[in-house]
Amino acid sequence: MTKFFTLIPAAGSGSRMSSELPKQYLYLDNKPMIYHSINTLYHNQLITSIFVVLAPDDCDWIKYDWSEFSSKLIALNCGGATRAESVLNGLTTAKQKGLIDTNDWILVHDAARPCLTAAQLEKLINELTHDEVGGLLAVPVSDTLKRSNIQDRVTHTEPRENLWQAQTPQMFRYELLIKALQNAEKLHFTDDASAIEALGFHPKLIQSDAYNFKVTYPRDLALAELIIQQRNNP
Ligand code: CTP
Ligand code: MG
Repeated sequence: MTKFFTLIPAAGSGSRMSSELPKQYLYLDNKPMIYHSINTLYHNQLITSIFVVLAPDDCDWIKYDWSEFSSKLIALNCGGATRAESVLNGLTTAKQKGLIDTNDWILVHDAARPCLTAAQLEKLINELTHDEVGGLLAVPVSDTLKRSNIQDRVTHTEPRENLWQAQTPQMFRYELLIKALQNAEKLHFTDDASAIEALGFHPKLIQSDAYNFKVTYPRDLALAELIIQQRNNP
């Protein structure tokens, strides 16, 4: 039977966050940011294991007690120089351990998207389980989009029809994802779907909402904390 695995690339340094501590460990509602993604993924009944891909020199992961997730959680110290490399290394290591079959689904989820909900995760899995290619959570663009020149002057307004903002999880079968990332290894794709697209496939967009945003800049941290606190104390 096809299984569902998740892989969290968490080997980034969070340079745009301007913090000493990599952003996945910054505190949100009294827990390191990555805790919230792990917690949501852990409680989905269909998910067998959660692979967390850490930087080889990560010395923060072991400072926390992850035992409540021990039945599913596997940390791999094989992160690479880019997100794509971290995902590729994580998949390769997990496969070498004999944990994944080629036809299994892999849900790749950024450690920096702590506000993913159980409902969004379920929707993604339900809508893609029988899909040929796989796909990703995404949100239709709602703002008016301007294209600028190098002096920050508007050259024209971009039509926003059919434009989406990509999120994670991104869900693809192991075999296709590894092929896509091996093909993309020297490239710097910022998500998994781009690597799949480079092979000529068309990932399916599953509509999500803006709450599943990526914590990138310091201002994003306060917003994520508000959302999580409100959910935990409605
Ligand atoms: N990531 C990773 N390995 C890398 C770079 C990024 O595993 N070499 C992970 C991050 O830890 C994060 C996710 O990919 O969970 C999304 O990346 P991003 O938001 O860009 O995080 P950082 O690369 O850490 O941040 P920045 O780009 O600001 O340095
Ligand atoms: Mg980055």
